[in-house]
Amino acid sequence: MNASQYLPGFCFCTLIMILSFVSCDYQPYKQGRNLYNFYCATCHMDDGSGLRGLYPPLAGADYLANHQENLACIIRYGLADTILVNQKMYNYAMPGVEELNDVQITNVINYINHAWGNDLQHVKVEDIKNALTGCQKDQSSGAD
Ligand code: HEC
Repeated sequence: MNASQYLPGFCFCTLIMILSFVSCDYQPYKQGRNLYNFYCATCHMDDGSGLRGLYPPLAGADYLANHQENLACIIRYGLADTILVNQKMYNYAMPGVEELNDVQITNVINYINHAWGNDLQHVKVEDIKNALTGCQKDQSSGAD
């Protein structure tokens, strides 16, 4: 017995493992999903159902569908308002998630727009960059 007998088989298996790992890795909303699970799911839950009375749902949410142009600003700067989501009132504040860059925000939006049966628009980084310049102006006027 010597190790060299096993080497070809070992290399072949490793190669197959690497190949299957790489090819399985393509999932369109993967980064968005990972970011969502890390930054948003604590409140909005893994399945986007929210938490009754406290955190509004994102799955099948009319607010999400009707406020697409505000989403990037909500994600970056938060929302402290009284809002109606699927006929239920929410007035607990959402903190902004300022760690996310423009590309990451785009990916999160594309994930929530298509997860859990949602069938909303696909957004591009340029749209999100534009939306964010709009809310930066709004936020800076008045404050400080
Ligand atoms: C600390 C809890 C918390 C976290 C974390 C959080 N949210 Fe929220 N979110 C809320 C609350 C509370 C509201 C309602 C705010 C209000 O009433 O003004 C809200 C509202 C929203 C809305 C608009 C209402 C709706 O249901 O469509 C969207 C969209 C949203 N959040 C997306 C996100 C995304 C995406 C993330 C992660 C990047 C996130 N939220 C992280 C608590 C949270």
